[in-house]
Amino acid sequence: MNRPQRTAIVTGAARGIGRAVALRLAADGMSVAVLDLEETACQVVVKEIEAAGGRALAVAADVSGESAVEQATQRVAAELGAPTVLVNNAGVLRDNLLFKMSVQDWDTVMDVHLKGAFLLARATQQYMIGEGWGRIVNLSSSSALGNRGQSNYAAAKAGLQGFTKTLALELGRFGVTANAVAPGFIETDMTAATAARMGVPFDDFTRAVVAQIPVGRAGQPQDIAATISFLAGEDSGFVSGQVIYVAGGPRN
Ligand SMILES: NC(=O)c1ccc[n+]([C@@H]2O[C@H](COP(=O)([O-])OP(=O)(O)OC[C@H]3O[C@@H](n4cnc5c(N)ncnc54)[C@H](O)[C@@H]3O)[C@@H](O)[C@H]2O)c1
Repeated sequence: MNRPQRTAIVTGAARGIGRAVALRLAADGMSVAVLDLEETACQVVVKEIEAAGGRALAVAADVSGESAVEQATQRVAAELGAPTVLVNNAGVLRDNLLFKMSVQDWDTVMDVHLKGAFLLARATQQYMIGEGWGRIVNLSSSSALGNRGQSNYAAAKAGLQGFTKTLALELGRFGVTANAVAPGFIETDMTAATAARMGVPFDDFTRAVVAQIPVGRAGQPQDIAATISFLAGEDSGFVSGQVIYVAGGPRN
């Protein structure tokens, strides 16, 4: 069957889960805007996509900046095509127990995860509505269920679930779906940094976490990319407003 050429924006795509999602969507046949803070880091992923025969564009932008997001979205539309797939993946951690958490650490996490997802969704919805088709996937987390030392992150990731369901309600009539993917433990720089902050070697940290995961292994970025490939694709049009935990079991 002949499938239309779609353009996707993947935020935080220079490494980790975002990089795997960008590579996967490109392999699925989409043109992919690799959006992250540093242009040079984005370029490395663009080169990987091009080497595999795909089409991609490096876009440096801070997702929490309103004008940066508007400009980035317009550039993607002009250079790659109307962005009708959006994966809000960019994320940061600023973990601390409540009594030690600064307002700045609270705000940074809200700005990147929540405001960033809002700004990108608002900037891209016009293209999706124009095409009568769109896919929005927001990265939540099993931490949305609560996690010690992550009151900011848990609130943001739970907030993204409510945001996702509301987008599904507002945009469904235009052919646009919105879903959230909530990863459990995935081996990336982010989880390596968590282990380092706790003073535990990453291997030991991973072993301890894996002991609690029913499928008996750590998650990989490709596990998340595979789920997002479905949610961002042509065949998922009747799945909307859902949160899919991708955690190797029913809980984190
Ligand atoms: N790794 C896990 O176990 C796990 C579990 C649950 C949810 N998640 C979520 O998945 C997403 C990706 O996680 P990861 O482990 O790949 O993280 P990572 O730290 O390896 O990568 C995050 C990327 O986001 C980019 N980024 C940060 N702030 C940005 C900003 N303001 N604008 C643009 N880009 C920005 C970073 O530069 C980086 O490339 C995050 O939203 C994270 O919260 C990860």
